[in-house]
Amino acid sequence: MRIDFQREKAWWDAKATEEDEERGDEWVNKALRWREIEGILHRGVESILTVGGGTGHFSIPLARRGLRVTHLDISGEMLRVARRNAEGLDNVTFVEGNATDLKQFPGRAFDLVLNMDGAVSFCGELYKQAISETCRVARKFVLITASHRALMCAVWAEGSVKTRGAIVDAVYEMFENGTWHQAQHDDNKALSKGCTQDYFGAFKAFLPRELAGLLEGEGMEVVKCRCLGTLAALCDAGSLEAVRQDDGLKAKFLDLCDAFDEKILPGGFGTRNRAGLLAIGKPRT
Ligand SMILES: C[S@@+](CC[C@H](N)C(=O)[O-])C[C@H]1O[C@@H](n2cnc3c(N)ncnc32)[C@H](O)[C@@H]1O
Repeated sequence: MRIDFQREKAWWDAKATEEDEERGDEWVNKALRWREIEGILHRGVESILTVGGGTGHFSIPLARRGLRVTHLDISGEMLRVARRNAEGLDNVTFVEGNATDLKQFPGRAFDLVLNMDGAVSFCGELYKQAISETCRVARKFVLITASHRALMCAVWAEGSVKTRGAIVDAVYEMFENGTWHQAQHDDNKALSKGCTQDYFGAFKAFLPRELAGLLEGEGMEVVKCRCLGTLAALCDAGSLEAVRQDDGLKAKFLDLCDAFDEKILPGGFGTRNRAGLLAIGKPRT
C-alpha cells in the first residue's frame, strides 16, 4: 500500500506547533534517550545526522555542545521552528528531505545517525528503506527509536472498541504485521477521526527482535535493542509529575527506569507517549 509523502508532509506540518508540548510520560522517554546518546557521544563522535529531527529537541542542544549537526526533516514547518530555535548557531545545517532517500549523503558520512520517534515508524511500508538509509550513512553508531508493537496492539484494540464497538480488521493487522494505512481496511478512516486532520500517517510498529533483525540485515552489530521506560508507563500521572518536579528524585527514578528495562522487564513495551523501542547499532568492520 503506497505511502503518499505529500500527505504525510502536510500532516507533520500541521503538528509542528504542538511538537514541543510534553504529555504524560514523554519527558521520561526523552530523558532516557538523552542518557543513551550521552553514552555514545564520548566514543569519538564529532558529526551527527538527525533524521526526522523535528523542532530540534535533540539536534540543537547537540550543536550547542559544539558537535557538527545535520538536521533533516520532511516537514517544512518543523524545520521552520527548528531554525528559529537554533538562532545564532553556525554548526547545524537544516535540510528538507525524506528518511527513505538520503542519497545526498555519501556512505558512512556521519559518526552518529539519530533516527528517533517518527522517521522509521511513519514511513509505512518503506520502513526497511528508511532503516537501510539510516545505517548506510552511519560511520560509528546508529540510534533508532520506533514504535513498539506491544503497546500499539493495546492502543489499536482500545480505539477499535471505543469508536466501532467491535474488534475491526486494523487490530488484527497490528497484531500480525504491525502495520497501518488509512486505506488498508474499510473502517480505518473512521478510526482516525479526531486525529490531526482526521488522518493517521502510514505506520509500522515493531517487535524488538524484528527491529534487531533489520539492523543486522544492514550489516550492523546490535549493541542494544529494548524498550524505553516501561516503568513510567505503569506509574500514575500524579507520581510522575511529582518526580518531574524534583531533580534528585528524577535522577533516581530514571536509574530505576533503566534497571527496570534492563533487568525486570526486558521484553516490556516502553513509555505510552513517544516511541518506546530503542535500538543502537554499529557497523560491523
Ligand atoms: C514526533 S517527531 C520527533 C522529532 C525528534 N526526532 C524527537 O525525537 O524529538 C517526528 C518527526 O519525524 C519527521 N518525519 C516523519 N516522517 C519522515 C520522513 N519520511 N522523512 C523525514 N522526516 C520524517 C516529522 O516531520 C517529525 O518532525
